[in-house]
Amino acid sequence: MVVVAILAAGKGTRMKSNLPKVLHSLGGKSLVERVIESVEPLAPERRLVIVGYQSEEVKTALTEISEVEFVEQTVQLGTGHAIQQLLPHLKGYTGDLLILNGDVPLLRTETLKNLLQIHQENQNSCTILTANLANPKGYGRVFCDRDGVVQQMVEDKDCTPEQRKNNRVNAGIYCFRWSDLSKFLPHLEANNAQKEYYLTDAVTQVGKVMAVDVEDDQEILGINDRLQLATAYDILQKRIKEKWLLAGVTLIDPASITIDETVELQPDVIIEPQTHLRGKTLIKSGSRIGPGSLIENSQIGENVAVQYSVVTDSFVEAGTKIGPYAHLRGHAEVGANCRIGNFVELKNTQLGDRTNVSHLSYLGDTTAGTQVNIGAGTITANYDGVKKHRTRIGDRTKTGSNSVLVAPITVGNDVYIAAGSTVTEDVENDALVIARSRQVVKPGWKRKTE
Ligand code: UD1
Ligand code: CA
Repeated sequence: MVVVAILAAGKGTRMKSNLPKVLHSLGGKSLVERVIESVEPLAPERRLVIVGYQSEEVKTALTEISEVEFVEQTVQLGTGHAIQQLLPHLKGYTGDLLILNGDVPLLRTETLKNLLQIHQENQNSCTILTANLANPKGYGRVFCDRDGVVQQMVEDKDCTPEQRKNNRVNAGIYCFRWSDLSKFLPHLEANNAQKEYYLTDAVTQVGKVMAVDVEDDQEILGINDRLQLATAYDILQKRIKEKWLLAGVTLIDPASITIDETVELQPDVIIEPQTHLRGKTLIKSGSRIGPGSLIENSQIGENVAVQYSVVTDSFVEAGTKIGPYAHLRGHAEVGANCRIGNFVELKNTQLGDRTNVSHLSYLGDTTAGTQVNIGAGTITANYDGVKKHRTRIGDRTKTGSNSVLVAPITVGNDVYIAAGSTVTEDVENDALVIARSRQVVKPGWKRKTE
């Protein structure tokens, strides 16, 4: 039986930010969201998030995560003080309490499972996660006797120069038998450099304590400033890229590519340099994305090619070619085997299969059928200054270069629109529409000036 508590009340002064530290984003998810996710597979009985600094913002950001309970720490007097706030919420609870720092976002679930298992098998009062870091600066140091029993824990700021040389650090992850911890919590004192109630002071006081080293040091990186946030991002990116490389995805120049954890890639996808894949994006087999592209919250079908383009909140079906320099946004849906060429913007526009928009066009709030050819420079004028209106174009219709379709407007199937037309009225099937002034030629008009 385990209850999880996540420390997320601190301001995070060293971030130098208006945003609470735990809400800073790391590859598309906030720090605290990552911590919550890492405990989900443990199926904890309760998830208590201790909030304080800008608690409303933190709560709002976490409302989508079900079954999280919030505990207020109105003044932030330290990690021990934060855990004291749990006392009224866990009255009579007899199981274990797994405590996680909201600013340690790279922990693997396996590591937590292992910690819990060792804790329970040894019937410890407390089991802490530790690591031996080449550079332990900033972390609390852990001192053990020869049998690995924790003797003392000293915060970096409270260390003597000699103590500071100890490389074994506290990861900020603890498993406590709640009945032992709850007895000691009221006795915590703030006798230290930061005048804070340290949770670490409880560790050596509760009974039998063990320290367990983490396998991979990178997991315990605590985020206190932007430099550590950037380091964590690098670690995360490396993990994500390794996963996709081993799953049959080609990444060309991986260092220049970024991929959010929420992205899904099928085998035989090729990602070219300087490409960024974000949010809930799915790229299907055989597609080649990049170089120089951004795909966000979008679904890309099989064998699609995207070059130097931006695709957000959109769908692209199989065999379509996008770019170079195209922009799809606001729920664009492009059918199969289409061609969306250079300097084309599609917004909230749905195109049928084998439709081409090859050059210099804006289609906004437009529905077009299959095998349509949108000529170079065609624009749908969808905005009258107040409202947006729709343009509807049937199958196999061809718009001439530089035509403007003024919405709301419906153009039928197999229509030809002459180049340079400004079309303001609906057009029936099979028609040719010419909506421009006739050419006037005045021979010999050039005046003799000499
Ligand atoms: C803490 C540990 C340190 C450990 C390190 C690992 C203590 C005293 N020190 O130090 O031994 O090596 O984590 O990353 O615990 N928080 C609250 N309420 C408070 C203060 C903090 O909820 O009153 C939260 C913060 O939001 C943060 C977490 O607790 O998520 C840790 O606080 P932080 O100030 O970053 O502690 P460290 O100095 O990093
Ligand atoms: Ca910290």
